[in-house]
Amino acid sequence: MASRLSFFRPVVAFAALLAGCGSTTVTAAAAVADDAAIANDSSDVSAQTDAVSAADAASGVAGSCSYTNLFSKGQECKSYTDAAWTAASAAQDCQNAMGGPGTFVAGTGCAFAHLLGTCTVQKPGEPAYLILSEGSDTAQCANGKLGCETFAGGAFAPGNTCAGTVDPGTGGGAGYGSTPFIQPYNVCKDALPGEPAGQGPGGKVCTNVLISGCTEAGRHFEDYGSCADVLTQRPYWAAPPAGKTDPADPRLKDAAFMADLAWSKAQIAASACVCCHTAKLAPKGASNWSIDGDGIWLDGVKDSGIAMMAGLADSTQLGAYPAKDNNGFDRTTLGIPTTDIPRMQQFLLAEWTRRGHTPAEGKQYAPFGGPLVSQSTFQPDPCAAGEGIAADGKVSWLGGDARYVYVLAKNAKNPGVPPNLDLPDGTVWQVNVPSSQPAVASGIAYGQVSGDMQQRVPSSGPALALVKGQTYYLYVLQDIGFPASRCLFTAL
Ligand code: HEC
Repeated sequence: MASRLSFFRPVVAFAALLAGCGSTTVTAAAAVADDAAIANDSSDVSAQTDAVSAADAASGVAGSCSYTNLFSKGQECKSYTDAAWTAASAAQDCQNAMGGPGTFVAGTGCAFAHLLGTCTVQKPGEPAYLILSEGSDTAQCANGKLGCETFAGGAFAPGNTCAGTVDPGTGGGAGYGSTPFIQPYNVCKDALPGEPAGQGPGGKVCTNVLISGCTEAGRHFEDYGSCADVLTQRPYWAAPPAGKTDPADPRLKDAAFMADLAWSKAQIAASACVCCHTAKLAPKGASNWSIDGDGIWLDGVKDSGIAMMAGLADSTQLGAYPAKDNNGFDRTTLGIPTTDIPRMQQFLLAEWTRRGHTPAEGKQYAPFGGPLVSQSTFQPDPCAAGEGIAADGKVSWLGGDARYVYVLAKNAKNPGVPPNLDLPDGTVWQVNVPSSQPAVASGIAYGQVSGDMQQRVPSSGPALALVKGQTYYLYVLQDIGFPASRCLFTAL
C-alpha cells in the first residue's frame, strides 16, 4: 500500500504535482503522541527525542523509514504508528518514500535531536503514520508546517526547533526546487532542416510549453519546446521501471503490435511527457517509465499508470488543453495526450486486459493529482485574524510571500493548474508575479497592480469594486500547488 506521503507517485503530470490527499482526521491517540512530543521543555533536546521514541514504542510501531525530502532536501523519518501496519507492509511502503526508496528499520520509531516538527497523517481507510522532519533552522518551520498540511494532508506539531516559532507569515519560497513554476507559453520555431514546414504562421512549428503541451505530431517535443521549463512545473525524480521486457516476448514478433507500439512512442515523443519519461532527457534518469530503449515501454509502467493513461483512472486535476490549441493532441479522454483517441485507447486497454484486469478495476484508483485533488475539493473557512481585505483595500494573508493572489466569488471553484483550471468562473480579481521576479509580501492593495505584478482578471481595466457586506473567497498561493491563505471574508 502506497502511503500518501509518496504523494507524487500515483500522480503525474501537469503542474502536476502530487498524490491523493484525502481529508484529515487526527486520531486521539496520534494527537496524544504529538502532545507527548511537545510537552517537554523545548530546550531539552534529549527529552524531546526520547518522548518521540517513547510515543512510538508505546504504540507498538511497525518500523520507521528514513529518507530525504525532495522539496526541502532535509531529512525526514516516517513512523508507522498504526496497528494496521505490519513490518512487511511498512517496509514495502518505505520503497515508495518521497523521491525513492528510503531506509527501513523494523520495530523502531523515529528520533531526531533537532526536530522541526511532527506531522500526523490519518486518512479515512488508510493506516495512520507520523512524519518527523529533522532540522535546527527555524527558517524552515513555516514551510515544514505548510508541507505537512498541504502535501501530506496532516496536522503539524512543532518540535524543539520550531516550538513557538511557527506563526504564519514567516514562510519562505515554494516551488519544485529553487525555481518557481514557469507559466505555460506558446513558442513558434522554424522547422528543423529535413523536417516539413510547420503548421503555424509562416510555416513555423508552434508548441505549448507545459507538461500537458505537445508539439506537432511526428516531431520531438525537445526540439521545439523547453524541458528545462517543464521541469519547474512538477517535481521530478528518477525511479526504476516497473518491469523489463522478456527478449522472448511473442509481442516483439507481432508486426501489428509493433506498429502500434512505434506509433505510441511517436505520439509521446511529441509531448512534454518525454522530459521526464525518457532516459535521454530526464536529468538523472527516467521517472519510472521511459519510451527510449528497445523493449516494450509499457512493461515499465505499473498497473496504476496504465489505468491513468487509458483514462480509467481520473487525472482531470493535472490539467489539459483543448486539442485544437495543442496541435490536435487531446488529454481529456485518456491520460496520455494523443491525436487519435480510439487508437491509443485500444492500445492501452489491450495492455490492461493482457495484465488480467477488467476496466472496472481501473476505475477504482483514486483520482490522480495528489494535493491538487485535495486542493480542488477544499472547503474554505472564514478568514482568521491577519487574513482578508480591510476597509482600506489592504489584502492580507498568512503563510508567507505569494506569487498568485485571487479574489473569487464565494462559491467559485478552487483554482487549479494551468492551462484550464487556473482561472475558475467567478474570479473577480487575479494578479500574479512572473517567475523571474521575487514573490510579494502580504499587504498589497486590492485592485492595484504594483511592482512586477501582472493582472490577469479583469484582462483589461480596473478591478470591480467589492460589494460591501458580500462574502468573497481570498485564495493566495506561494506558488502553483502551494496554498498560503484560502478563506472567506466579508467586504467592508
Ligand atoms: C517533470 C517531470 C515529469 C513530467 C514532465 C511528466 N512526468 Fe510522469 N512522472 C514523473 C515522476 C517523478 C513520476 C513518479 C515516478 C515514481 O516514483 O515511480 C511519474 C509517474 C508517472 C506515471 C506513473 C504513475 C503511477 O502511479 O503508476 C504516469 C502514468 C505518468 N507519470 C504519466 C505522465 C504523462 C502522461 C506525462 C505527460 C503528459 C508525464 N507523466 C509527464 C515525472 C514527470
